[in-house]
Amino acid sequence: MQLPDEAITYQYQSLLVPARLRALLPQLTAVRSQVATERELKEVPAELKPMQSGFIDLPQNYLDRLRRKGDASELGRVMTLSGKMKANADRVVVLGVGGSILGARALFEALCNRHHNELLPDTRMGVPRIYFSGDNFDNDSLQDLLELLQTTCVDPELREERWGVVVVSKSGNTQETAVTYRVFRREAAEFYGSHSERIKEMILPVTGQDGRLRELCKADGYAEGDILTIPDDVGGRYSVFTPAGLLPAAIMGLDVRALLLGAAAMTRRFLDEPFERNPVLQYAAVNYLMSEELNKPIRVLASWSSKLKALGDWYDQLLAESLGKQGRGATPFTSVETRDLHSRGQQFQDGARDKVINNLVLKAPRTAPIPVGMVADKNQDELNTYSRKTLPDFMDAALRGVTQAYYATARPTADIILPVLSEHVMGQLMQMLMLATVIEGRLMGINPYGQPGVEAYKKNMQAILKG
Ligand code: PA5
Repeated sequence: MQLPDEAITYQYQSLLVPARLRALLPQLTAVRSQVATERELKEVPAELKPMQSGFIDLPQNYLDRLRRKGDASELGRVMTLSGKMKANADRVVVLGVGGSILGARALFEALCNRHHNELLPDTRMGVPRIYFSGDNFDNDSLQDLLELLQTTCVDPELREERWGVVVVSKSGNTQETAVTYRVFRREAAEFYGSHSERIKEMILPVTGQDGRLRELCKADGYAEGDILTIPDDVGGRYSVFTPAGLLPAAIMGLDVRALLLGAAAMTRRFLDEPFERNPVLQYAAVNYLMSEELNKPIRVLASWSSKLKALGDWYDQLLAESLGKQGRGATPFTSVETRDLHSRGQQFQDGARDKVINNLVLKAPRTAPIPVGMVADKNQDELNTYSRKTLPDFMDAALRGVTQAYYATARPTADIILPVLSEHVMGQLMQMLMLATVIEGRLMGINPYGQPGVEAYKKNMQAILKG
């Protein structure tokens, strides 16, 4: 397979584990075949339940169905509804928690202007301001957002003062999201009028095939076709390429086709390529060895761009909920470089030897490199020596410098190389990490789907609330 220029690679060669990797290869190949077969099972055997492998082929399936059915396909509906929302509202609040919000947030931070909400409307080119909520019972944060909407949106007849909501919950009964949604329905009734037909245009639901949210929407008069669906066979934290992530992404003005093309390309590489050209298998194998055989229970995802911090939060959930089971599983930890070299860097270099660091490296910035520049008469900061250097040159030197320093004291690091920050690359990256998590789970003998451990607090909380 010819790799396009925008293909992600994984560089792990400095880890000096070739013998262990070679020994793992037969098992790795067997697990890949197992995962490939699992996605075609008509009947799932009890020992493999829950099984939620639908995310693997979904990106290509969505693209194919868009070609065949156009506006009537899922992706066609995502595009139509997002287009209407953009035309109707200047502010959109995405409600959800965990897998129902972290993917959208990662895409927003990575691919939209860091100050998107502060940009002038013309510069935003019709893309609404985006906010995230519904992931907590945090009274003050919710009040802050309501206050913002109440004070900036006064006239519902003006697009510039209208706000909308995308509410995402696969189960439809997650309390953080459900309670917040109830508050927003109340706000919407006050702002638009409780019987306004407009409310259905301003609130777009994304949920599972059944559940309380779907029932509530039906009671509110939504047609089935206006409720976007997260397929049953896709787990929450694997759902970024369902309407859970795609609808917010389209409202953000992102190219959702390119996202899906990137994800589908990664699935193909995963299924078809040998280990040497297969970043999914490489990442899964290296990190499996580190946590299971080499005593590195802490897995650091070091993002060499502040714009990838939220991607780290998304990966935290993916890894923690998928593999943190039966007393096992690496602990995820996101750091942002070079910022955290001034804090956690001390520990990475000199602290407990319990970590593997996966650097998330951007090969090229998306925007024009900013030069240091020459200031002939005031060189007190002594930067004239570097006057021709740019910020990316400094970033690169810091990465190389810290890699050498870690290597010198046998601190293991590897690099996920992203050619640039684009929809196509983010599609590849997120699909790569989801697939690698499944492979790692199967290597460990742990089901990467389901999250039985988070049910206990929910049960206790309900009992306490009921008094
Ligand atoms: O991975 C998962 O399934 C969970 O983390 C969910 O994404 C999270 O709990 C939110 O659930 P829901 O979408 O049902 O509100």
